[in-house]
Amino acid sequence: MPQQVFLRDAMRRLNFTRDALAQRIGVSRRALDSWLLPDESPEMRKMPEIAQRFVLEILKRTSIDTQDVYNHPTGNSESGQHLLSVDGYTRDSVEALLRVADIMQPVARRQKTTRVLEGAVLANLFFEASTRTRLSFSSAFARLGGSVCDTTGFTFSSMAKGESIHDTSRVISGYADAIVVRHPEQGAVAEFARATHVPVINAGDGPGEHPSQALLDLYTIQREFSRLDKLVDGAHIAFVGDLKYGRTVHSLTKLLALHRNLRVTLISPPSLMLPEHLVEYLARNGHHVEQTHDLPGGLKGADVVYATRIQKERFAQQETLEGYSTDFQINQALVNATCGAHTLIMHPLPRDSRPGANDLSVDLNFDSRLAIFKQTDNGIAVRMAIFATLLGVQDQVQHSLREVGWRVPVYLGPEEEVPYRDQ
Ligand code: NCD
Repeated sequence: MPQQVFLRDAMRRLNFTRDALAQRIGVSRRALDSWLLPDESPEMRKMPEIAQRFVLEILKRTSIDTQDVYNHPTGNSESGQHLLSVDGYTRDSVEALLRVADIMQPVARRQKTTRVLEGAVLANLFFEASTRTRLSFSSAFARLGGSVCDTTGFTFSSMAKGESIHDTSRVISGYADAIVVRHPEQGAVAEFARATHVPVINAGDGPGEHPSQALLDLYTIQREFSRLDKLVDGAHIAFVGDLKYGRTVHSLTKLLALHRNLRVTLISPPSLMLPEHLVEYLARNGHHVEQTHDLPGGLKGADVVYATRIQKERFAQQETLEGYSTDFQINQALVNATCGAHTLIMHPLPRDSRPGANDLSVDLNFDSRLAIFKQTDNGIAVRMAIFATLLGVQDQVQHSLREVGWRVPVYLGPEEEVPYRDQ
């Protein structure tokens, strides 16, 4: 197992920050950081064997056994082999999946290739607008060596001729080894799953859930927190915007609820508050929840600010944006005035960058606290992990890795040239 995967896994299982682990094994934080850097980084150092033995010893003494969760890495006993919702995940099964995502990192970063899904076919069915979810599921499947066929919108599918979800799903099961579905109606993806034994992944069902997005959001929080020496337990997370219809928020609040002692601030206009059952769920799991319409007040002291787009397309006819004024925008001035030096600014994207939209402002594009492109980059590793585990090849990946044969840029985007990238 690569040392980076081993160390990240150990810290997750022990719930240790980097400082805590470094101290426990008697090395400097700098040394530990250098062991965690990706192989291609010039500052990466090999971890001495004695250090690895020491970490293994600590794991053994805390008698952590996660063996069984690796057998159910989607954590979803109810829906079997599908990924329809984050319900059914335990903290251990989420962490097992994120460990597989760590193994995928060199492939997602284009340092290595793998062909573990050679010959497999993915059907990508998107009945709603999408750029990143559709393309990143395709890209993730292709990077595992599989091929992708897809259809977009109702107009070009037989559903326009009145075909039922059951028939469509059963037909596609004969063509593909996995099916990713996005649909405007809550529950529709589960209906697809009921008609097939081929794994179905929910890529967003109306205002329902978006489990893969929540997994990549949690993965991003964990990785960024690791660099900042923070744990998810005890963190202060502020959700901003359309919490009523934002399905990424619905899934993410449930995954976060698996942690301990969070402070969750829900900031939205009165008409777009988080559904009551989710507020209750957070509270029932011992988290401190506050709901407010005051944006600057709510952002104070947050470790994570998770902004969302107003989902106007889901509004009922008489619904308006009452209370959503122009000063509901997260921009540089507001972040400087209310957030700390290490607050993570997140957004599932797309953000509405048109004038007057009040979404996350583009003036934050080069602020090092902005994590939106880390989220999208991490989406590849996490979606690869989802496919690999659903199709049962997660243990083959490590031994299948080969060097890439083409030229890969050192930085993927202009915002990446900040010194701490990927520590
Ligand atoms: C979101 C979605 O479709 O739910 N986007 C995404 O998948 N990353 C959020 C949105 O559309 O606003």
